Amino acid sequence: MILEKSKIIRLQDLSQAGYVEDDKADFVKDFIRINHIYRSAMQEASTRLDILDSEFATIYNHSPIHHMECRVKTLDSILEKMKRKNLELRIDNVYKLQDIAGIRVICNYVEDIYYLRKLLISSNGFELIRESDYIKRPKPNGYRSLHLIVSVPFVISEGRMELPVEIQLRTIAMDMWASLEHELRYKSGRVFTEAEAAELLQCSKDLAAVDEKMQALFQGPGVGRTSS
Ligand code: GTP
Ligand code: MG
Repeated sequence: MILEKSKIIRLQDLSQAGYVEDDKADFVKDFIRINHIYRSAMQEASTRLDILDSEFATIYNHSPIHHMECRVKTLDSILEKMKRKNLELRIDNVYKLQDIAGIRVICNYVEDIYYLRKLLISSNGFELIRESDYIKRPKPNGYRSLHLIVSVPFVISEGRMELPVEIQLRTIAMDMWASLEHELRYKSGRVFTEAEAAELLQCSKDLAAVDEKMQALFQGPGVGRTSS
């Protein structure tokens, strides 16, 4: 199942949102084009992942992907990030950001993440640009996921292009922690006390232990047997 969080953007939508009136007008017009091509790269990568998932399911009778979420960064989010990175508001600077197109792949088991990584990287045309393994080395706050920046070739009306797509791979448990931590931190604008931060870190460790147990259960002697 692929859930797409971003919809097609038309210039008309941005005019109505009040973007086009000010000094960002040229940037905003180019953004529409950028949005479309990153969307194409994202769709290419998510289709590849979907195909790998069903192929794996056909051969091994196990589907590594629980579900996927896709998004292209919103204009607001791009503007905020360019400001944070001190990048001048020019369209060529947008290409310096490697997470304009993003896919979150929620897997069933930890090993599924590494299977998919291997299949994706060895599949024709997808080149690994950058990798951060926050599963082997979780962030100090407890965040766990495997982040890949992959260069994705695709074809549009002007011809062949290649753009980076950020692929975050995580288990259902890792996704639960990240979603709730994000919810607490951003939505309620909360700053964690030391005790709360320690509690969150402990939750992450507990969930990592659950991931390990579920993986062991999956690989246990009962796998593949049907009860009679
Ligand atoms: P940026 O320039 O911020 O993108 O730096 P980066 O590419 O080094 O970022 P990083 O590897 O930290 O990954 C960024 C993305 O991972 C974020 O947009 C989140 O989706 C996710 N992420 C990273 N750290 C955390 C965290 O502590 N909590 C949660 N909930 N998500 C995180
Ligand atoms: Mg990033």
